[in-house]
Amino acid sequence: MSSTEGLVIAVPKGRILEELVPLFKQVGITPEQAFFDDAERQLQFSCKGSDIRLIRVRSFDVATFVAFGAAQMGIAGSDVLMEFDYSDLYAPLDLKIGHCRLSLAEPDDMQPQEDLMRVSHVRVATKYPNTTRRYFADRGIQAECIKLGGAMELAPKLGLARRIVDLVSSGRTLRANGLHETQVIADISSRLIVNRAAFKTRSTEISALIDKFRGAVDAR
Ligand code: PRP
Repeated sequence: MSSTEGLVIAVPKGRILEELVPLFKQVGITPEQAFFDDAERQLQFSCKGSDIRLIRVRSFDVATFVAFGAAQMGIAGSDVLMEFDYSDLYAPLDLKIGHCRLSLAEPDDMQPQEDLMRVSHVRVATKYPNTTRRYFADRGIQAECIKLGGAMELAPKLGLARRIVDLVSSGRTLRANGLHETQVIADISSRLIVNRAAFKTRSTEISALIDKFRGAVDAR
């Protein structure tokens, strides 16, 4: 993309937007009205008073769009960055929003003989197979991961896997499905991410925007 075009910023769908929109406001990014309409099928949005364009994609896809340079910047959870470890991404700033945990959870009625301390192999349903395998390997346990895109909490009840690794915020989803957190794998927050090549070729405008975000985060 030529540097005469506005920066493209990839933002994740979902509840993070509630915290992101006030941050955007502090930074001076004002998305067009359609951006706030959940029923809207449009995926690309202009911003008032600037040539920045926002694209709204799934959280894992934010990292993909930015890593391949289709978007120059993005907002990605540290869970996504841990899972993919893209070398083409630079994550200069913790935005201190989207706080939650990546946790291991088990059924409330799990039998004591299934204690993790006693097993050498576990089966886990998760959207995070790389992070999960690494976590268990560090503890000498081989994790067999069954990859799901969502609704992990169903897996134990239906016999797919007794354990899950997923994001936990309020804990309501776990409780509603007869599960509880047994280990916190990582504390998660949202990061500003930048494509490394774009950061070199468009350093003035990208650095200016990073500074604005940093100022907004520090002012909170
Ligand atoms: C996330 C996560 C859990 C839930 C946890 O899903 O995968 O299912 O939130 O939140 P809680 O602890 O507050 O209940 P989300 O609703 O973001 O949708 P997703 O399954 O599409 O990722």
